[in-house]
Amino acid sequence: MKTKTVSDCQIIKLPLIKSDRKGSMTPVYNNKHIPFQIQRVYYLYDIPSGAERGGHAHKELQQLIVSASGSFNVEVNDGKNKIKFKLDRPSYGLYLPPMIWRELKNFSGGAICLVLASLKYDENDYFRNYKEFIRNKWKS
Ligand code: TYD
Repeated sequence: MKTKTVSDCQIIKLPLIKSDRKGSMTPVYNNKHIPFQIQRVYYLYDIPSGAERGGHAHKELQQLIVSASGSFNVEVNDGKNKIKFKLDRPSYGLYLPPMIWRELKNFSGGAICLVLASLKYDENDYFRNYKEFIRNKWKS
């Protein structure tokens, strides 16, 4: 399979169901709104001001990252190009394919980062060293 680039990292508009005076809801279906089957959900919260998360890439994992509350930036990098996304609406998610270095920064107070993931947690799926990621990313 052709290696993914930052142009494969895309904002996906999710369904938004607004109820009169009762707030909003966003449902997400496997393979309908996102191009994978969800095997795991996790969320980041109580993030101190100035903290940065991510700083790694995944070999196989696909993810949808959503700001369930507040806002934060996701910087994606394929070793050739970088793009910065701001996530600040629960009805939009950022799709990340495998083999993309990501850094999550600028969390607002009370931000909640919701992640829908295609695989269970596996430390062997991570590149945590940027140079090692780059060596593997563009080898043919
Ligand atoms: P990590 O993926 O590095 O978090 P972030 O990119 O948000 O900074 O994970 C932080 C720690 O949590 C690490 O020790 C692995 C553990 N972890 C799990 O046990 N299960 C999970 O589903 C995830 C995502 C992380």
